Amino acid sequence: MTRTVYVNGEYLPETEAKISIFDRGFLMADAVYEVTSVLDGKLIDFEGHAVRLERSLNELDMRSPCSKDELLAIHRELVAVNEIDEGLVYLQVTRGSDGDRDFAFPDPDTTAPSLVLFTQNKPGLANSPASQKGAKIISIDDIRWGRRDIKTVQLLYPSMGKMMAKAAGADDAWMVQDGYVTEGTSNNAYFVKGNTIVTRPLSNDILHGITRKAVLRMAEEAQMTIEERLFTVDEAKDADEAFTTSASAFVMPVIAIDDVTLGDGTPGPIAKRLREIYLDESRKAAI
Ligand code: PDD
Repeated sequence: MTRTVYVNGEYLPETEAKISIFDRGFLMADAVYEVTSVLDGKLIDFEGHAVRLERSLNELDMRSPCSKDELLAIHRELVAVNEIDEGLVYLQVTRGSDGDRDFAFPDPDTTAPSLVLFTQNKPGLANSPASQKGAKIISIDDIRWGRRDIKTVQLLYPSMGKMMAKAAGADDAWMVQDGYVTEGTSNNAYFVKGNTIVTRPLSNDILHGITRKAVLRMAEEAQMTIEERLFTVDEAKDADEAFTTSASAFVMPVIAIDDVTLGDGTPGPIAKRLREIYLDESRKAAI
């Protein structure tokens, strides 16, 4: 089945979808994105992703390409026509194209933003073998720009981080700035010591994860203790367990950091419990 994608008002087969070579998303990474997961053919936390998209656009003085209701309708149409039961919807808004290359932003009255959405079919996402095995993590320097709270498409360094992990025989990397873990290449980072879950507080240094917000709320409801504070890689290596959160992998247990095995080297009980609770609650609230 050919995938149907959405580009600037049109639903098209992926092979017919086109964006200008002058589009600022392509030339300047002048674009923001969202990834929303799909379970049972329904969207997980669409509201949270739509609100964060609006914030990212505002922070970059970019106009919204359409209303929240229109965005929801496009998400739903793509999930339906592509028959997605479990998977992801990727959305990207760029500052558009004024037909040339210029560092200065084009006039938003004459240059409209570009809007692109496509689905990724991932049968078995909720029960992935990776989540049952847990992830091995390496630590790397965080050399990204200073506004990581804005979800821009500047993903070269996170991609390099994933490649460094792969080269080291690991699954992913946590980034470290001034001695403290910021976040994973595409997820938020946590460790567990005793009954306490530790994660970095929100600031411009990390993405304000939609999954993070939901998981912390659910952890609190389950009477778990949460400490939002800076932490070092050494603290995490000395932990009972660790995990990451993201829309694409939900709650992912971490079983080793820089070759130090956590616990018995299998997913820890708190990460497993939080994954269960998150999947359960998210399925119930999905739209
Ligand atoms: N990544 N931190 C970074 C750097 C991320 O790229 C992401 C998400 C997160 C988690 O945010 P959320 O819970 O809202 O997905 C944290 C997405 C999934 C991606 O790039 O594919």
